[in-house]
Amino acid sequence: MHTTTPLQAHILDTIRQHGPIPFAEYMRMALYEPGQGYYVSGKTRVGWEGDFFTSSDVSEIFAHCTGRQLLQMWEMLKQPAHFLVLEQGANRGLLGEGIRAWASQEHPAFHQALHYVSSDIGAGEDALSVASEQAPTVLLSNELVDAFPVHLVEKRGSELYEVYVGEQNGRFGELLQAPSSEEVASYLDDYKIPWRTYPDGWRAEINLDARHWMRRSAQLLLGSNPKRKRRGFLLAIDYGDLARQHYIPERFTGTLACYYQHQLTERPLLRPGEQDITAHVNFSTLIEEGRRQGLRLHKFTTQRAWLTDMGIYEELERIRQRDFAALDDIQNRASDQGQVQLLQWYNVRQRVSALTSPGGLGGFKVLILKR
Ligand SMILES: C[S@@+](CC[C@H](N)C(=O)[O-])C[C@H]1O[C@@H](n2cnc3c(N)ncnc32)[C@H](O)[C@@H]1O
Repeated sequence: MHTTTPLQAHILDTIRQHGPIPFAEYMRMALYEPGQGYYVSGKTRVGWEGDFFTSSDVSEIFAHCTGRQLLQMWEMLKQPAHFLVLEQGANRGLLGEGIRAWASQEHPAFHQALHYVSSDIGAGEDALSVASEQAPTVLLSNELVDAFPVHLVEKRGSELYEVYVGEQNGRFGELLQAPSSEEVASYLDDYKIPWRTYPDGWRAEINLDARHWMRRSAQLLLGSNPKRKRRGFLLAIDYGDLARQHYIPERFTGTLACYYQHQLTERPLLRPGEQDITAHVNFSTLIEEGRRQGLRLHKFTTQRAWLTDMGIYEELERIRQRDFAALDDIQNRASDQGQVQLLQWYNVRQRVSALTSPGGLGGFKVLILKR
């Protein structure tokens, strides 16, 4: 016997009324249905008590490096007196807190100019429909775009089908139908993906909201008066890759993943509203749509390379000299206090490797667009 949650019942009702819905619509309801969706029901989702953790949880050093990036941008813009940074999908605001604390300690003049606003759909601020009274100078996000609903497509013969969610014996089940829009149908061809040569059953995700978000973000950066030449940056960090590396035949089942209490599952139709559903980001979408909107590519690299550029190893060395210099002395190290310190030092070092490891967070991509 299985019990039906109110959200499951609501999605089933929708399907009974309208027929099968595109997977993207199911995902939208599972994550964002007002009051019930995963990201909007007011529960702890991110962090050690939630379902997954992010770079912001791993170490405050991540915030310090991001702060250094913002400082560089502020300097490139000739140190404006008012520097508005809007972070989207900020969750509990950990990154912003870390950046502000770092700036107040290390760069008081920058700290004074910095107006850092954290926003999140959990607090009613949807990055896809945000209207800002004041145009931000920097739009920043960490693991935002991977949360947007995705269409799922599957290759069969020479055709591309879309995955829909219907009802089978009172439960959710998948079925394949024609693509729900021309934008879905032509998406892979837009990026010149030779999907027709891929094996049957090959699946991929199509994140149309990433395009819409980039359009919206570019408009936000431009401000309400497009004639006034404003300068600004968009910084987005996420897992994913350029289209040609992302949509490859070897990735036969795509990149859709679900997280429930730190466990990875591959069953998105289970527990809607209780588990996170995400997919890797096609960064070509962001870059190409950004360009179409008048932005230029400033940087596209891995988190590992970016953190290295932003001085993560210098900071590690500074921390060692400041807090763990006593460990240089072998006798100190052998004492009980020294042993405790040694463990603390290993912990700091371990966190830096977690942020930079190529197979983990270090393999994330960092995209900076500018105008
Ligand atoms: C994976 S978490 C990342 C949280 C935070 N950026 C960090 O690094 O710890 C994704 C966050 O994006 C938020 N989010 C998802 N979709 C959003 C949207 N359309 N607009 C604004 N925030 C959104 C979620 O509520 C969640 O807090």
